[in-house]
Amino acid sequence: MMARILLVTQEKGGVGKTVFARALAEAVDGAPVIEIDSSPRMIELGDRVTFFKMRADRATIEKTGGKASRAEFDGVLAALETATIPTIVDVGANTSLTFLSVISEIAPVLSNNGAEFGICVIVTTEHAAIAAATSILSSTKPWAKAQFLIENRLHEAVEAEWIRRNSNGIKVTSFDQQVLEDGADEILQAGGLATIGQLDQAKLRAKHGLGPALRIQKDLERFRKEAMDAVRPAAEWLIG
Ligand SMILES: Nc1ncnc2c1ncn2[C@@H]1O[C@H](COP(=O)(O)OP(=O)(O)OP(=O)(O)O)[C@@H](O)[C@H]1O
Ligand SMILES: [Mg+2]
Repeated sequence: MMARILLVTQEKGGVGKTVFARALAEAVDGAPVIEIDSSPRMIELGDRVTFFKMRADRATIEKTGGKASRAEFDGVLAALETATIPTIVDVGANTSLTFLSVISEIAPVLSNNGAEFGICVIVTTEHAAIAAATSILSSTKPWAKAQFLIENRLHEAVEAEWIRRNSNGIKVTSFDQQVLEDGADEILQAGGLATIGQLDQAKLRAKHGLGPALRIQKDLERFRKEAMDAVRPAAEWLIG
């Protein structure tokens, strides 16, 4: 049984990994989600999500040596080994580089089971994000069956020349900086993208007033649509 497994990665925190993992969950009906993080975020996905806790302090883990840091991912590897349908993995901050080096060793073994790994790298203008994205794109090239790059214009657009140099043969999409009415972010954090289609307008109006309630709904619907547009090439690969 073949399973495509998409790893949503970027070493730098706060760049949108969870946003795009959630958008992929919206785009790929029923796909299980594996969440690697210090605390669970995607609770709205219920049974679809399996959470693996990473110790927040990676420095301590690294100091204990390669053996201990490899063991950190045994639970995730066991989950990947049994994947039989398209699977989304949100690789939390400060975890991607270590995790991907473990996967690079395991990928040939799991490919005998029929598993294929795809990589979805998120990049923003921050130096740390650019450096990590450069490294992830080149180090995963030998074994990733597909690579996707999402430019998150969270702060501003990423230098076009960097994108050009690093996207040879890779599908690149962009996600604009989203304007969110006060009150919208709270809804987004609590329910992700899954609840945006079922907002209770009467409740929103009672809480925020008519004008703000309409803007909240509009902003959230646009956020969801644009995030889903950004992950579309990756979602299409996952579906096969
Ligand atoms: N283009 C954007 N415009 C506005 N807000 C955004 C944009 N991209 C992401 N965000 C917001 O930025 C915050 C960080 O995003 P998210 O939690 O997805 O990042 P992450 O990479 O998963 O972070 P972590 O590394 O902590 O897991 C969230 O509140 C998200 O809604
Ligand atoms: Mg996250």
